[in-house]
Amino acid sequence: MAREGLIYLITGASRGIGRSLTALLLSRPNNTVIAAVRKIDDDNAKALNALPRESGSKIILVKLDGVVESDAHAAVDTLIKAHHIEHIDVVIANAGVNDSLPSVNETTPDNIRRTLDINVYAPLTLFQATRSLLKASPSVPKFVIISSIAGSLDYISKSPLSNLSYSVSKAAVNVLGVRIAAEESDITTLLLHPGLVETDMVHEFIERHPSLKLELSKMDALKVDDSSANIVKVIDGAKKDDSGRFVDATTGENIPW
Ligand SMILES: NC(=O)c1ccc[n+]([C@@H]2O[C@H](COP(=O)([O-])OP(=O)(O)OC[C@H]3O[C@@H](n4cnc5c(N)ncnc54)[C@H](OP(=O)(O)O)[C@@H]3O)[C@@H](O)[C@H]2O)c1
Repeated sequence: MAREGLIYLITGASRGIGRSLTALLLSRPNNTVIAAVRKIDDDNAKALNALPRESGSKIILVKLDGVVESDAHAAVDTLIKAHHIEHIDVVIANAGVNDSLPSVNETTPDNIRRTLDINVYAPLTLFQATRSLLKASPSVPKFVIISSIAGSLDYISKSPLSNLSYSVSKAAVNVLGVRIAAEESDITTLLLHPGLVETDMVHEFIERHPSLKLELSKMDALKVDDSSANIVKVIDGAKKDDSGRFVDATTGENIPW
């Protein structure tokens, strides 16, 4: 059943899956969608204000750069003081990067470090900053991490792609999600794989790995709005018992670790 009248916070709302999730949740009535963006004056960020919305729904833009360690706490401070937000029902840690290099041999520690900054440390500080507002939710609060099948050791061991820095980061963020689920019994925590989705991330990846173009073109990529509809369906239906699951949003099935 479609949920309405909830307060959502989504990181990486400027483009791709984050933008599509923002648009979808605004198209339901009585939602407040907090769109967290790295650059608040960017054209992509400003364009979010023009998204159509159903009656009673509104958007709040906040600045949140995942590599700035204090940004998540500063954003929550602004939400409380300037926007009178007293709780959040669903946080979606969506912002991410994939700058992985073609092989293990070519990967530098710095390449992994920069990816961890955004894909792992940012969700960690986001969780810490939003924890109290989630706990104040009158419904069942949810902390959702947009992970990837690239973080599944089962998948990595069979995959032709190296994707090292990205896989390291998504495996690590899966550990983060599992620990949050273990320690916070009142916050339903999900790790979601959105599928292969036609966004800038995938297009840029193909540009950087031309030898994989053919291989990737054979895989059926999802349209971004189809992927966000799948993600929201899983979030809507998630129960407390689902906490700690690593789910393929397309099928709703668990992904092997
Ligand atoms: N597309 C896929 O096939 C696929 C598959 C599996 C998992 N995922 C995951 O899905 C999530 C969204 O990916 P996408 O495909 O929508 O990627 P995308 O189109 O490249 O968008 C990435 C988003 O992350 C934001 N971001 C990047 N660095 C940031 C930072 N330092 N602080 C805050 N925000 C930052 C970007 O903001 P700016 O606009 O400011 O750069 C943008 O909004 C990621 O976690 C990704 O790993 C995607």
